[in-house]
Amino acid sequence: MYVCSQCGDLLDVERRELWVPDVEELRALWLERLQSRAARDRSGVWRFREFLPFESEDAIVSLGEGNTPLYDAPRSADYCGLSSLQLKHQGNNPTGSFKDTGMTVAVTQALKLGMRLVACASTGNTAASLAAYAARARMLCAILVPEGQVSDAKLAQALDYGAKVLEIEGNFDVCMRVIQELAEQSSLYLVNSINPFRIEGQKTVAFELAEQLEWNVPDHLVVPGGNLGNSSAFGKGFRELLSHGFIRKQPRISVIQADGAAPFARFVENRDSDFVNEKQPHTLATAIKIGAPVSWKKAWRAVRETGGHVIAVSEQEIADAKAMIGRDGVGCEPASATTVAGIRRLVGDDVIDKDEAVVAVLTGHVLKDTDYAIKYHNQTLVAPDAGSGGAIRGTFANSIRRVAAAPCAIDSALRDLQLRFNRES
Ligand code: F0G
Repeated sequence: MYVCSQCGDLLDVERRELWVPDVEELRALWLERLQSRAARDRSGVWRFREFLPFESEDAIVSLGEGNTPLYDAPRSADYCGLSSLQLKHQGNNPTGSFKDTGMTVAVTQALKLGMRLVACASTGNTAASLAAYAARARMLCAILVPEGQVSDAKLAQALDYGAKVLEIEGNFDVCMRVIQELAEQSSLYLVNSINPFRIEGQKTVAFELAEQLEWNVPDHLVVPGGNLGNSSAFGKGFRELLSHGFIRKQPRISVIQADGAAPFARFVENRDSDFVNEKQPHTLATAIKIGAPVSWKKAWRAVRETGGHVIAVSEQEIADAKAMIGRDGVGCEPASATTVAGIRRLVGDDVIDKDEAVVAVLTGHVLKDTDYAIKYHNQTLVAPDAGSGGAIRGTFANSIRRVAAAPCAIDSALRDLQLRFNRES
């Protein structure tokens, strides 16, 4: 096995190109493993290990990641102008984000290599995830985060899991650049998504999703875009499934960014020009506040090959879409809501037809950024750059009411609420 110098993909010529899997046998085996008690079988990543570059005796570092739900979301569908919409909720992973599906593989590889120090730059979720898996593997874990730009929930996770958190003056791109430079000169093991083992793990979500849909992939798969590892991983996963005969077509993979952090969307819009980083990325969706995405070439391949789209949505669109996902009883963090905002736009622009099958990938749990939700519902959410909109309207705001501690006051408040509820539904 080796890493391709052009694209960074892991290649295993013997296994990948000469190996002809028995499709029906593997589909049955993968389902059967869900009944097993063994950690290797129950993990939604290692369940698909025939497509991972490890030997069966290798020790794995797992927290029971993957096997996440695929929800029907009728309210969000209606909001987008679709007949139906499904949400693949990667926030239902052990540390509350999609990062766990890649981290289990990257930390397993670090263990195999005998690494003692693992590290990453992060807007918060990679940090929380690496911290947890490093703790399981008893490794020292160092995390570089942009000072004052990571939600408390994500920092709290990293601290509880015992990671050493280094706050850097500067944004995520600065953190990424310095840790990459350091990784070239030292023996630390870098697990950002430029690490091909992260992508190997994350690609299994394509397998899991295809299985959940009985091997009929959707017409469109819509993913938020930050550093662009996740869209690259979906591209790789569906490409492998197609080339080995598990599926008959790939979904169109579309990537949605926030207006203030959209170098990929701008690149795709002006196809003939070079990729230009965003020097001062800004968005309240802090997870994707990234101006120099390291995996844009691989993500571009996934979008181009599948005929997908790349667009950017405003802070207002993200906030309203997030509230709507909440109304389906699902919820997510702000970055994940770019998907529903983007789908609404693509339906409005007649790019997605109302009866097509669409899956939005929700990348992070609703509790990852409670400050954002409280402010939205209190109508105090303000976009970071007044130029991009300033105050955000709480279109679907659901504010807290103060009521006197007396049964009659509460009864009157409930009657009022019931009247409104009946009027709205
Ligand atoms: N959604 C969430 C919740 C994220 O945390 C991230 C990235 C993305 C979407 C974008 O995914 O980078 O693969 O395009 N978070 C990284 C981090 C950068 O450090 O946690 P991507």
